[in-house]
Amino acid sequence: MRIVSGIQPTGSLHLGNYLGAIRNWVLMQDALGPDGKAWFFIADLHAITIFQDPAELKQSTREIAAALMAAGIDPAKAVLFNQSQVPEHAELAWVLGCTARMGWLNRMTQFKEKSGKDREGASVGLYTYPVLQAADVLLYKATHVPVGDDQKQHLELARDIATKFNSDYGVELFPLPEPTIPPSSPRVRSLRDGAAKMSKSDPSDQSRINLTDSEDEIRNKLKRAKTDPEPLPGEAKGLEGRLEARNLVEIYATLSGESVAAVLERFGGQGFGAFKPALADLVVAHLAPMNQRFRELLAAPDEIDLALARGAERARAVAAETMREVRSAVGFLG
Ligand code: TRP
Repeated sequence: MRIVSGIQPTGSLHLGNYLGAIRNWVLMQDALGPDGKAWFFIADLHAITIFQDPAELKQSTREIAAALMAAGIDPAKAVLFNQSQVPEHAELAWVLGCTARMGWLNRMTQFKEKSGKDREGASVGLYTYPVLQAADVLLYKATHVPVGDDQKQHLELARDIATKFNSDYGVELFPLPEPTIPPSSPRVRSLRDGAAKMSKSDPSDQSRINLTDSEDEIRNKLKRAKTDPEPLPGEAKGLEGRLEARNLVEIYATLSGESVAAVLERFGGQGFGAFKPALADLVVAHLAPMNQRFRELLAAPDEIDLALARGAERARAVAAETMREVRSAVGFLG
């Protein structure tokens, strides 16, 4: 078993990424042990499919690396690196771009969303983005890829590409990667609108809790979080149609490791005036140590760079071996 996943270095990490993805990465890393079974990378090659200011890209890459480490990704257990330090990602993406079909890419919904009305003005990289993503996971012969719902289609494409490559060249080179959508992670919602995901691209910073927020900021954002005038219900059924209330209760349950039912048993009948401070205590207790570690790491950027360089070195050893097999399968001399 080998799990591989990536995250883009655009914007900062928030509670939604943490509860939805990163926390599960840490759990998987710890379950798999230190033998190169968990691979996590910062997708800087993907980031530039939309123009990034170079100084900001460097800074965001360090920040995401620091946030991942502060959240518990341990470079001694997992292989942690930034994608651009392993040139084989781009090399394999070229080869797989010759396997993938135009018709397959034309069906990708994320390209349609991201390019919007100006498809002619989108970068070619944004269009072939899913091919690079396939290369990311196939390069390491990933068996499982933890991703959110929005990335499932890209994973399906990676499986199609792997299948066609294996069959075109008559090899068993790439195993088919399985998307793993962790069952226990809530889809954390915006604090301003329970119908929207908590997102780093939401223009309102009030909509999310960033992993870098101070205790005061966390408490204030939760105090001002949108709710409704009713007290909390005694059971989960009572949360139907109350998107904001449900979001806050789910965050509480995930952080405290309880079921929604258990949380409501305790808080049912109480108003948000009582529930919000309790939730804030819990969020602060989880994020404060992370926050502290994040700041320490960011104060020593050389250490972050070194950790990423070491991770990239480990990644390259495996990536180079896969590329030898690919070159031989395809018929490249040398
Ligand atoms: N496209 C993913 C996202 O935006 C990030 C990503 C890049 C990724 N390469 C990957 C995720 C490979 C899983 C596997 O969230």
